[in-house]
Amino acid sequence: MTTLDTLRARLDKVGQSHILAGWNRLDAASQSRLAGQIDAMNVDEWPSLVEKYVKSKPSLDLPADVKPAPYYPHAGGTYDAAKYKAIGEQLFKGGKVAAFVVAGGQGSRLGYEGPKGCYPATTLTDKPLFQVFAEQLLAARARFGRDIPWSIMTSPLNHAETTAFFEDRRYFGLGRENVTFFPQGVMPSFDLTTGKVLMSAPGEIATNPDGHGGSITALHKSGTLAALRARGIEHLSYFQVDNPHVKVCDPLFVGLHASAPDSSGEMSSKMVAKAAWDERVGVFCLVNGKLDVIEYSDLPQALGRATNPDGSLKFNAGSIAIHMLGVAFLERLATDPAFALPFHRAEKKIPCVDPATGAPITPAANNGVKLERFIFDALARAKASIVLETDRVEEFAPIKNATGADSVESCKKLQTLRAARWLACCGVTVPMTPSGEPDCIIEMSH
Ligand code: UD1
Repeated sequence: MTTLDTLRARLDKVGQSHILAGWNRLDAASQSRLAGQIDAMNVDEWPSLVEKYVKSKPSLDLPADVKPAPYYPHAGGTYDAAKYKAIGEQLFKGGKVAAFVVAGGQGSRLGYEGPKGCYPATTLTDKPLFQVFAEQLLAARARFGRDIPWSIMTSPLNHAETTAFFEDRRYFGLGRENVTFFPQGVMPSFDLTTGKVLMSAPGEIATNPDGHGGSITALHKSGTLAALRARGIEHLSYFQVDNPHVKVCDPLFVGLHASAPDSSGEMSSKMVAKAAWDERVGVFCLVNGKLDVIEYSDLPQALGRATNPDGSLKFNAGSIAIHMLGVAFLERLATDPAFALPFHRAEKKIPCVDPATGAPITPAANNGVKLERFIFDALARAKASIVLETDRVEEFAPIKNATGADSVESCKKLQTLRAARWLACCGVTVPMTPSGEPDCIIEMSH
């Protein structure tokens, strides 16, 4: 059989032969690219994905046993913070910890074209997000006397631009050998009503990054995990590219993750008290006695609004998407042939072309479904998992939207507020407005 016959047979079998409708109009290079794109995908799983996630909307059946998750409080008191901090410092000094940022997202809410990590984020000098993290790693290197390797997950859509950005800026002084990039996987985008795979251009399947949950497989497949293991790394400090306030190197968190009696050292998390019942953050819960995150869109209002006798929110442990991940845990999951995190569906407007004519289609309403995996679904695979509370101003200032909540504007306000606090701790008098906000703009580096 020719390649075309083979492809046609595979696609016919799964009801997706429209992908080849424009085949004869493609030149040889485009034909071979399309064949490669199809070959790289798990075509056989498409019918079941379409049935489960496109033609129906899986509903989250919350079990009756959902309780607020316990956590190590920020104020301490119930545990020996100094001891765990010292343990974490030893792990950094011993070269056991690496940083890991997920930077493969598309940043569509922000309306920024480039990789989100290149977004100018700081208050005065517009430093890009990647530089903010790099400076933390430089400071940690000075403090612990060790290089801290940094793994950066990109997507096929922004990989080349991201690596060129670091190359241009000479890796911000971290050393090329300490920074690794690898692209995450992609999933085809499906037509919302028919379940047919969308085409982004003649001869090209529309795809989307497979979610930060895809990072576990991508870490393994790219050889990054094995390379980190070979360097003696035992734990990864995981964070999202959208939060310049993340403490990339936090000895207390590392120490608790690695050695608290109720931690398996597999996967740990940070939380902040939710700002309001409907804040758009996932919530840590105990589901049937096991730690889990329920995404804001899935949390029933009755639970979201439930309060304690003192009026505080019952389910107040907001996930800020900061985790510690054990290398052994990641290896165990990634090498298990049966391992797969569940998919989550999102309806989106996906520009595409008519597969038969190649005519562009600009949808006015949602026309497609994207499927993504979420990293926090791996919590269910950890033997035991802890949550550490942290201070919102200190560690959560995400840039997600162009304006309003979680925007660059709100982030910059928080940057100044945090810097003012730090200065005040050192005895500097910061000018304040009558309402108690800094009456200035401050930028501080690590
Ligand atoms: C996320 C969390 C939410 C948490 C909040 C805290 C999810 C689904 N929800 O919400 O529970 O409270 O952050 O800020 O994650 N990314 C990739 N590849 C992908 C998709 C995303 O690397 O395929 C990265 C993005 O670059 C970004 C991060 O993951 O750094 C967040 O993704 P996003 O989909 O924007 O999640 P949020 O809705 O912000």
